[in-house]
Amino acid sequence: MSTPNVFWFIPTHGDSRYLGTSKGARPVDADYTRQIAVAADTLGYDGVLLPTGRSCEDAWVVASSLIHATRKLKFLVAIRPGLSTPGLSVRMASTFDRLSNGRLLINVVTGGDQAELEADGVFADHETRYEISDEFIRIWRAALAGEGGDEGYHFSGKHLTVKGARTLYPPVQKPYPPLYFGGSSDAAHELAAEQMDVYLTWGEPPAAVAAKIADIRARAAKHGRTVKFGIRLHVIVRETNEEAWAAADKLISHLDDATIAKAQAAFAKMDSVGQRRMAALHGGRRDKLEVSPNLWAGVGLVRGGAGTALVGDPETVAARMREYQDLGIETFILSGYPHLEESYRFAELVFPLLGKGKEHGEHSITGPFGEVMAVDILPKKVA
Ligand SMILES: Cc1cc2nc3c(=O)[nH]c(=O)nc-3n(C[C@H](O)[C@H](O)[C@H](O)COP(=O)(O)O)c2cc1C
Repeated sequence: MSTPNVFWFIPTHGDSRYLGTSKGARPVDADYTRQIAVAADTLGYDGVLLPTGRSCEDAWVVASSLIHATRKLKFLVAIRPGLSTPGLSVRMASTFDRLSNGRLLINVVTGGDQAELEADGVFADHETRYEISDEFIRIWRAALAGEGGDEGYHFSGKHLTVKGARTLYPPVQKPYPPLYFGGSSDAAHELAAEQMDVYLTWGEPPAAVAAKIADIRARAAKHGRTVKFGIRLHVIVRETNEEAWAAADKLISHLDDATIAKAQAAFAKMDSVGQRRMAALHGGRRDKLEVSPNLWAGVGLVRGGAGTALVGDPETVAARMREYQDLGIETFILSGYPHLEESYRFAELVFPLLGKGKEHGEHSITGPFGEVMAVDILPKKVA
């Protein structure tokens, strides 16, 4: 089986050891985001996702601060159509792509929380937001691809109009940095099929993911296109299955029912179909969290968005990932609490099973592996 792309996550909305509490939490500042980015880069992760929204530090500013700390790592950074003009977004993307020498990936986020969007000045409803996203991305792609030549690209739509849109500083990646996108509504699937390069789903059970992939493939075929697929999951991997499940329980061991109820009530107010699907997996109950073998919905009791984790020993986690690969998933966007330690743990325990990180081993480490004992005794090799 082919080697998957594996991304990690920059937790710009905070990091913790025990969900829903400040116990063992740590500040997420410039040093910490840099430590995670450097870890991801040197361990051999292909990229990192930076979330966007009112609960996060700004994704573009944080990603920019990490360009020079890293060498190969790609940055999956969100644009929210409607929050900026297409022209500004085009310029930010081309500049970032140039400064990072082609390491920008775009996550198109239409948004699913009306209250959050209204606070940002966006009053469009779900359907209208998707119409705006459709027009925005049309303009964005055309301007970056240089359509319209020196005169620039003209567009007059229902919501957006531009005259002579172009960038004098073209992006490194042609025709433009790849477009990733998540959304579970009909409108989202249609937009993905018509304009996106990679469709992302949160970690739903394999059967549900298979159905989404089939739907998007069928819609894309009508446009004469193909779309690639990725999945966003947390991961709790330990040397044994018992340890992994104990770690999952520990993660929510200080979480009280009132906090869960408060978070679920907030999710219920959102118009995001994807969020609704995540919440439906556990229904706010903490007694039925293994929603499919080794897929645990405990994170979603309080965390918005990605709410499920793969739980198990390295072989089990790798096998579950291969199941998703069999369905057509090529990219895994993973994370674990705390993000720095877990980036190492996942890479050390699971990368060898995925055929990843070899380059790191060959070039960066010549051995000895482990601590040298009693002056000159090398560590014993143990598989
Ligand atoms: C992998 C992935 C990452 C996402 N990242 C964000 C994000 O950073 N900020 C955000 O507000 N929404 C994010 N979303 C949510 C979607 O962009 C979309 O706004 C939401 O699912 C509502 O669309 P829907 O009703 O079509 O599901 C993400 C979705 C997925 C699948």
